[in-house]
Amino acid sequence: MLSDVVLSMLWPSVILLAVGPAGECYNQGDIKLPMVISTWIDKESHNVAWETLNTKKSALDAVEAGCSKCEELGGGSVGFGGNPDENGETTLDAMIMDGETHNVGAVGNLRRIKSAISVARKVMEHTSHTLLTGSQATQFAVSMGFKEEDLSTNSSREIYKKWKENNCQPNRWLDVTPNPRISCGPYSPIKDHHGGSEPEGYGLDEGNHDTISMIAVDENGRIAGGATTNGLSHKVPGRVGDSPIPGSGAYVDKDVGGATATGNGDIMIRFSPSLLTVEGMRSGLTPEKSAQEALVKISRFYPSFRGAIIATNIKGDYGAACHGYDTFPFCVVNPALNQTTVKRVNCVKKKEEF
Ligand code: GLY
Repeated sequence: MLSDVVLSMLWPSVILLAVGPAGECYNQGDIKLPMVISTWIDKESHNVAWETLNTKKSALDAVEAGCSKCEELGGGSVGFGGNPDENGETTLDAMIMDGETHNVGAVGNLRRIKSAISVARKVMEHTSHTLLTGSQATQFAVSMGFKEEDLSTNSSREIYKKWKENNCQPNRWLDVTPNPRISCGPYSPIKDHHGGSEPEGYGLDEGNHDTISMIAVDENGRIAGGATTNGLSHKVPGRVGDSPIPGSGAYVDKDVGGATATGNGDIMIRFSPSLLTVEGMRSGLTPEKSAQEALVKISRFYPSFRGAIIATNIKGDYGAACHGYDTFPFCVVNPALNQTTVKRVNCVKKKEEF
């Protein structure tokens, strides 16, 4: 894990040797800025962010460009054509945050517009609001010059058709009638509330991950962060996840650093884990340790939740932590690494292991 760092001074250049989870050594170097870090393995989008940062554009531009690239690719858990809701519609959540100004723009349940992170940036730059949602976010986007279009594809239509044929399984309903574990809706609440638990089939893994979230720090330590996703397959229409919520999907602070999240947004949103991670770094924890502690707070209540956090401080020291998977991959690049590099951390599954 990244915290198991062995420092070795090699003359004439000072190089930090870090021992990764599989025992490999990698060069963290002494030139840590500028840098970009992002969740999961999307090298193409990560490279776009890095190129943007290196053409002397801002950290904010880099995050927008990198997340936009992932949205353009679409077809999966980010952007158009993936994760249809219970009506078969793909809707998008995104946010962008500027560490210099603490300004945020976000959209939730954005309908019929492909470029969610760019609409989020327009919310930040052209309104005094933070978060717009649903059809009215669409109206706002159209007024800002974005094209309104269908976000469904043959693939998302097929996913939806199969889900209907499978009696709407999995779905996200609890304590309703007819029994949501075997029947489609419409549903009504049942009188005896059992609390219920997350149904099987949340299904977040490397092949079906949920969010690209990203942090960029320029060579002067100016930081920005963002996240974009189409949320959760078969979500109840109107659902907004963690990604567009400041402190949850992403959080950056010009004096400390930033953190962004991925995973089960319906759980993570209850804990503001990106904020917790940044505040942990402010109190002196390493990025990795702070991300771990944020996840511990969630696992006390939800021992089987799946999620991960990436974090960096404004000096470019970075780390990640995860819960509920075996390992978690993320991308990082800085001058010492020279190219987008996939790192992997081992997850801690039970709170006792922390
Ligand atoms: N983490 C993305 C979501 O749950 O919506």
